[in-house]
Formats: sequence, C-alpha cells, structure tokens
Amino acid sequence: MRLIEWVDARFPLSSLVKEHLSEYYAPKNFNFWYFFGSLALFILVLQIVTGIFLTMHYKPDAELAFASVEYIMRDVEWGWLIRYLHSTGASAFFVVVYLHMFRGLLYGSYKQPRELVWIFGMLIYLALMAEAFMGYLLPWGQMSYWGAQVITSLFGAIPYIGEGLALWIRGDFVVADATLNRFFAFHVIALPLVLLGLVVAHIMALHEVGSNNPDGVEIKKTKDDKGIPLDGIAFHPYYSVKDLVGIIVFLFIFSIILFYMPEFGGWFLEKDNFIPANPLQTPEHIVPVWYFTPFYAILRAVPDKLFGVLAMGGAIIVLFLIPWLDRSRVKSVRYRGPLFRIALTLFTLSFLALGYLGTQPATGLYTLLAQIFSILYFSFFLLMPIYTSLDKDKPVPDRVT
Ligand code: HEM
Repeated sequence: MRLIEWVDARFPLSSLVKEHLSEYYAPKNFNFWYFFGSLALFILVLQIVTGIFLTMHYKPDAELAFASVEYIMRDVEWGWLIRYLHSTGASAFFVVVYLHMFRGLLYGSYKQPRELVWIFGMLIYLALMAEAFMGYLLPWGQMSYWGAQVITSLFGAIPYIGEGLALWIRGDFVVADATLNRFFAFHVIALPLVLLGLVVAHIMALHEVGSNNPDGVEIKKTKDDKGIPLDGIAFHPYYSVKDLVGIIVFLFIFSIILFYMPEFGGWFLEKDNFIPANPLQTPEHIVPVWYFTPFYAILRAVPDKLFGVLAMGGAIIVLFLIPWLDRSRVKSVRYRGPLFRIALTLFTLSFLALGYLGTQPATGLYTLLAQIFSILYFSFFLLMPIYTSLDKDKPVPDRVT
C-alpha cells in the first residue's frame, strides 16, 4: 500500500505493528488465566470513554453533584446506561485485575526476568485504587462522603504532621466542596494519565522480556534457525482473535449484571449512596466498596489507629517485594512443591475471608477472625523466603507441554 509506505517513511508504523503484534511471539500454551490482561485493557478504554460522557453532564460542586448524577440517570438520553457502564465497569475492572494478579502468583510471572512487569503492575494497582476511591466521592452520596471522611482521617494518625496532612489533602477541616473539586481533577485527568503511562510501561517491559506461560518455561531458550521461539506463535492473528473471544464472553456476563443488577445488591453501588451526603449524620456502618474490604479488615483488625494504618499500607507494600521474597527456582505452581501450594491456598482463603470480614461490623468474633486472617495474609509473604527454599519442587520440562 502506497499510503502505508508514505507513513512508514515518516513514522515507524509497520515496525511497531511487527514488534508488538505480528512478530511478537507469545507462548502457544496460554490458558484461561491469560485472558485478563487484554480484558483489563478493554475495561480501561471503557472507563475512559464512559467517563468522558459522564463529565459532560456531571457538576463537581457540593451543592449540585448529587442532583447532577440523578439528572444523568433520569433525563440525559442513555445517561443511565453511561453511568451504570462506568460504575459497574469499576467493579469489573477490579474483578479482572485481581484475577490477572492471581495468575501472576500461580505461574510465578513476577520472577526474574519479569520483576519490572510486576512492579509496573503494582503501581497500576495503586493508581487504580486511588482512581476508584476518588471517583466514589463524586456522586456525593452518604457513603461517598463518609467513606472519604474515614480514609482522609487515617492520615491524621501519622505522628506530628498527620493532622496538618489530612487538612492539606481535604482542603478543609472535613470533607467538603474543596475536596470534591480536587478529587474530580485527580479522577478525570491526573490519575487516568498516570494509569495510561503505567500501562504502556507495563506492556513495554513485558514485550522486552516476553510473556511467561502456565508451564513457567522460557520459550526464548529454544529457537528455530530464523530466531523464532519454537513454542511461540505470533500474537496477531492468533492471540488477537483469541482475546476477542474473551472480550465477547466478558461482555455477555457484564451485560447480564449491567442490565439486571447494576448495583449488585449494594456491592457495586452501596444503598446508602442513594441518600445525598449529610455532614451532620453519620451512617450506621461505613463500609468501602468490596474491592477495598480486605485491606479495610486489616486496618480494623489492629486496635491502634497508627499501627492499623501501617498494617494496611504494609499489606500492599509486601506485594511489591514478592519477586525477591520467592526463593524458588521454579515459576509455575504446576512444578512447585506442597509447601507453596498450601501457602498459596491459605493466602487466597485469607484474602477472601478478609474481604468478607471488611463488610461486617468490627465486633467480637469478627475482629478475632480478621486478626487471624491478617496474620495468615502476612505469613504468606514474610515466611516465603523460608518455605520456597525448603520446598520439594518438581523438575520443569525444557519445552512447554
Ligand atoms: C489496568 C490494569 C492492567 C492492564 C491493562 C494490564 C495489561 C496486561 C497485559 C495486556 C498483559 C499481557 C497479557 C497477559 O499476560 O494477560 C499483562 C501481563 C502481566 N501483567 Fe498486567 N495489566 C494490568 C494490571 C496488572 C497488575 C495490577 C499486575 C500485578 C501487580 C500485573 C501483572 C502482570 C504480569 C506479571 C504480567 C506478565 C504475565 C505473564 O507473562 O505470565 N498487571 N498485563
């Protein structure tokens, strides 16, 4: 094509397409768990597009915000669809990202040489949490308001500078119009830019070293005489088409939730958030949305506020360190010994249990259970150097199976 030649003389279009699509060789044995990266990318685009349309009608003003969201829901043409795509999309994003991260744990995708892929992933996860937290304030409902009040107050636990810091973050003595305005700015432009930049870095780092796979075998070790990995297939058309199937299946499930239970019984949009924010009336139970509840449970499991905040922060920081905590020479769970399998199972159960406990009142038995599961959560990471060294791993095949 003459046009493509014209562009190629001025911009590396064909070479980029070759490097990242038609001549990017991915292992031929990708399974179910490998759908979630492309799905995360799909939802990122969905959130940005629906977000742009919401911004056209939303009013970032404490006096107008709640009513502007109701206006979108009732009067704006297709406004209800745009809003539910965005609010249900936020939860779908976390479902997909959690499954994507779990795949990393299953197959040791964070291990050498993919440490930076993991680190960029963790930075994405942090940015995504900040993005979701700030977005949730915008409808200015009771849970928006009180959730933000609880979380910004946590900064007050830091000695000496805490109170000043909380005041600086909110721009007022309590969550107020100034807070809403700055959260809006971060939510619609600052954090999406950071997220996009990080996702580009994440994929560039991945394409530099090549994808891992369910066997944890490095396919670059066995190449044919043209230098193409024997166990690799071109991303395009093979995986571009396969990922499309993943997106279609996702859209089926997503549509059922979107059209029949967009609030998911109060899990995706909490019931209290259909009441306008009232700074004079605290809701009985202040509970974050489900994707934050494991960390919320860890926060409340610790009786002291400062140590609770440190434990919650630590629960996220340890995830960054996992490439260096794991001493095993085997990547995939398929060839790992029993110790790692038991540890990963206990960790997964604790994470789910903490997620449930975070939605319940922090009283008696619930608090005790949260303490036990928090200890199990941290043990997975802190004991990892020991049990991964002692484990009886199985021999890893030379080629993918
Ligand atoms: C907006 C969020 C994210 C997007 C769009 C994204 C995108 C992708 C894509 C397209 C891939 C290649 C396809 C695949 O392996 O599934 C990938 C791989 C990977 N991602 Fe993510 N990712 C996101 C978040 C994360 C997070 C939060 C982590 C972990 C902390 C993470 C860790 C990884 C790892 C370790 C790989 C390599 C997996 C392997 O080769 O086995 N990603 N990501």
